[in-house]
Amino acid sequence: MKIFNTKQETNAYLASKKEDNKTIGFVPTMGALHEGHLSLIKKAIQKNDLVVVSIFVNPTQFDNQEDLIKYPKTIENDTKLLESVSCDVLFLPSVAEIYAENISSEKFDFDGLEHQMEGKFRKGHFDGVGTIVKTLFEIVTPNRAYFGQKDFQQLQIIKKMVRKNRLPVKIKGCPIFREADGLAMSSRNARLSKEHREAAPFIYKTLKKVKNKFGIENDVTVTEWVENQFKEHPLLELEYFTIADEKSLETIKNKESNNKNRAFIAVYAGEIRLIDNIRLK
Ligand code: PAJ
Repeated sequence: MKIFNTKQETNAYLASKKEDNKTIGFVPTMGALHEGHLSLIKKAIQKNDLVVVSIFVNPTQFDNQEDLIKYPKTIENDTKLLESVSCDVLFLPSVAEIYAENISSEKFDFDGLEHQMEGKFRKGHFDGVGTIVKTLFEIVTPNRAYFGQKDFQQLQIIKKMVRKNRLPVKIKGCPIFREADGLAMSSRNARLSKEHREAAPFIYKTLKKVKNKFGIENDVTVTEWVENQFKEHPLLELEYFTIADEKSLETIKNKESNNKNRAFIAVYAGEIRLIDNIRLK
């Protein structure tokens, strides 16, 4: 596996591969890699001649400094994992390499997608995500880029950015990879205390019950039910639960929307913020 730290080396190497008509699959990450990330990388390997993974903890998408500072960093293990799945290129830039002296985001208009859910609770988050993903696409010039449905709103926002700017890349959404007990895999899970880790599968259990209830009960009663489940929970604090339209990401109101609906949740387990979602019928 080639490891590059600069934009220039990465771009030059990949440009030469493109001249040889090789297709490039790209998986952007913030590292602390787990099976969820690897599922995206494996999919990219199946479909492309060359696979590039980036590891960059992007400061501009964090609205909470402590979360940024404490974000898990396991670069040695990450490198081993990437070699074990035969990743071709690891792009591992510094903050200065990406942002030089100006650590700030571009402002994006994602046609309102950015104002829902995560956008309400993490100010500026999607401007940071848009800025880094656009920059990485310019450096890597992928044919296909892979994103997890774990961050469903992020996936929809990247698709929107690509459509609006006519970027020459296909965005591929990949299913959520879970622990055996149902907890969605996340780099932040490593920061959970033992008792919060044991409590956390309650989130997906609740989402599965929502899936069964929805259709028999309406969105309002299901939402109230979820809120009550968490009011009674000693360790998990609900930040939001909403049933939204998959396309607009707007909360549905007392009816099913024409598009598919999905339930979205954000929960604090101690100081660790966890998100998850599930498709409803
Ligand atoms: P990160 O949280 O490292 O996730 C990298 C990619 O892995 C994202 O597309 C995310 O949705 C996917 N992923 C994470 N956990 C997953 C799981 N359990 N199942 C399936 N896919 C999963 O998301 C980011 O980094 C950043 O915002 C980034 C896009 C790299 C921009 O900085």
